[in-house]
Amino acid sequence: MKILIYGYGKIGIIHAKNFKKFGQIYVYDIKKIKNLDLNYKTIKNLDLIKNNFFDLTIICTPTANHISDLLNLNKLSKFFLIEKPISTNYKNFSVLNDQMKKKIIVCCNMRFHKGIKIIKNNIKLCGKIYYLQNYFKHSLKNMNRAKNNYIFKEKNSLSILYDCIHDLDYLNFLFGLKKISYIHSKKFTNNHLPKDYIQVLSEFENNIYGSTILNFIDQFKFRGLEITGSKGTLVWKSEGKIKEKVTVDFYKKDKIINLFKSYNFDSNTPYMDMAYEVNQYLKDSKRKVNKYNLSFFKDASYLIKLINHE
Ligand SMILES: NC(=O)c1ccc[n+]([C@@H]2O[C@H](COP(=O)([O-])OP(=O)(O)OC[C@H]3O[C@@H](n4cnc5c(N)ncnc54)[C@H](O)[C@@H]3O)[C@@H](O)[C@H]2O)c1
Repeated sequence: MKILIYGYGKIGIIHAKNFKKFGQIYVYDIKKIKNLDLNYKTIKNLDLIKNNFFDLTIICTPTANHISDLLNLNKLSKFFLIEKPISTNYKNFSVLNDQMKKKIIVCCNMRFHKGIKIIKNNIKLCGKIYYLQNYFKHSLKNMNRAKNNYIFKEKNSLSILYDCIHDLDYLNFLFGLKKISYIHSKKFTNNHLPKDYIQVLSEFENNIYGSTILNFIDQFKFRGLEITGSKGTLVWKSEGKIKEKVTVDFYKKDKIINLFKSYNFDSNTPYMDMAYEVNQYLKDSKRKVNKYNLSFFKDASYLIKLINHE
């Protein structure tokens, strides 16, 4: 496989490392690239590349560029893995034709987190699910990219929701998001973000109700999900950044059953597992999307439209 990493910043570097076992990595960035792995090849002039030269292009540029980059690169690559969020403006999707949409996978690596996998396999323990709560809370000072992140420069009150779209995406993946009923945003601190706290109230298939809290004001990184049902409550917690403390527990009457515990969970694992599945999908001649945990254009565009009440 020939794999182009388009945009070699924070996430481009991670994808290059995880995808290198599946083929030859090519890298393109508008900035001069320093300390490149000796096994990667750099592309200086994309105009010299033949049509369909790349089997996969991974678009890792700032979100505002994703759709225009896809249009510019369309002829050069058979498939695209586009970083999340695919776009913040659903109106951009009207420029994509059906042939392009079929080539798109969107990078939703949280679907591949061990916590989500265990929740998915044990969800029946809860019985009839009534409601769920999930959260992603982070310290802004620990997020280098936040300073330059275009999303935060847009002064859009929903910017942290777009940046943290993983936490709505995996809910949609597990429960089928039907409606976003309410989005409440606030600014607690004097950091540069337009808003640093968002709460989303949502409705899922089977009358399940959800509440999501996203913020950049905590002192530590927390991610988690609690699912409350007639037979008990399933709880996933991830704490920390590079090495995570991860637990999944089921709480029933007078009893806590531990389903998973790690104090040393490597946060790269979900990216690696996603890369593995992307490779499987590309090699599969039938490419039946339902067989895969990946997010395709349909899912990703649906989520952006729901956020915009479209
Ligand atoms: N999946 C995840 O968990 C995850 C994590 C971080 C970032 N992201 C997403 O990845 C994207 C990039 O984020 P980042 O943190 O890596 O940003 P970054 O600023 O570290 O990297 C972006 C890179 O793109 C390059 N670039 C900009 N314009 C370009 C152009 N026109 N052509 C070629 N290269 C160009 C920049 O020079 C830079 O090297 C964003 O959409 C972000 O939301 C996803």
